[in-house]
Amino acid sequence: MEDTTDQVSPGASAGTAPAPTGGAEPLLRLRGISKSFGPVQALSEVDLDVPVGHVTALAGDNGAGKSVLIKCIAGIHAPDSGQMWWEGSQVHLHHPRDAAALGIETVYQDLALCDNLDIVENMFLGRERVRRIALDEESMEQSAKDTLRSLAVTTVRSIRQPVASLSGGQRQSVAIAKAVLWNSKLVIMDEPTAALGVAQTRMVLDLVRRLADRGVAVLIVSHNMNDVFEVADRIAVLHLGRMTAVRPVAEMDRQIVVDLMTTGASTRSVQARPDGR
Ligand SMILES: Nc1ncnc2c1ncn2[C@@H]1O[C@H](COP(=O)(O)OP(=O)(O)O)[C@@H](O)[C@H]1O
Ligand SMILES: [Mg+2]
Repeated sequence: MEDTTDQVSPGASAGTAPAPTGGAEPLLRLRGISKSFGPVQALSEVDLDVPVGHVTALAGDNGAGKSVLIKCIAGIHAPDSGQMWWEGSQVHLHHPRDAAALGIETVYQDLALCDNLDIVENMFLGRERVRRIALDEESMEQSAKDTLRSLAVTTVRSIRQPVASLSGGQRQSVAIAKAVLWNSKLVIMDEPTAALGVAQTRMVLDLVRRLADRGVAVLIVSHNMNDVFEVADRIAVLHLGRMTAVRPVAEMDRQIVVDLMTTGASTRSVQARPDGR
């Protein structure tokens, strides 16, 4: 295995779309993204392709730059340099609403939902349906219900219960359902299972899988190897702000990912795995 990035496109220069790397155009393409905070170089020349219908896992040790990269995609941080393409066109995101307008939904661990509001209110927050002057509660309830059902989220007792009364896994499910309700094309999740128990982790990972199977692109941050190998189709590994590898899961195993996360390189090749992963 080479220790260099698999997606480097040396010919890509500012303003020119990089040559296709084979296969379909990815939904999102990042090239040469750099970001520093004063003396801290959080991201250095990061390249990443995010295709539709797949789960891309973003792994990396604490401080590797995972959250900063996600915030660049979500329009929270403006990169210092580099280019971003969305469905083949170059884009510049200056605000989270720019990302939302493209169909990028970010599910943060704690900040995703408002505790004091119920499930319907959360799913329609900022996008309430109005009929004449009154909110169209009935149609919002029906859409919220339909979306949860279509994702096979069955553990929620009432969609009118406040989100504060939900378990961590249920909260994540509602946040994911919100992304589905709004037809998001890319759903980004930062450590969605970090605070969850075994059963809830399973529920959320199943949901992530179903999201990708519907054709949504999912980018999931995790440093939990079990989660990564359970749900991901592709694994991207950041080390000290550099993308060390982006490969299909079949070309990775836990030891390789750990090597890449901790040293930025791996000389191992994939060992045959009985479960195929
Ligand atoms: N707003 C900020 N101001 C200054 N430094 C930051 C900021 N956000 C992140 N950093 C630094 O950038 C580096 C990458 O951070 P981060 O992306 O949060 O890592 P992680 O991979 O754990 O999510 C770290 O060194 C962190 O201290
Ligand atoms: Mg982080």
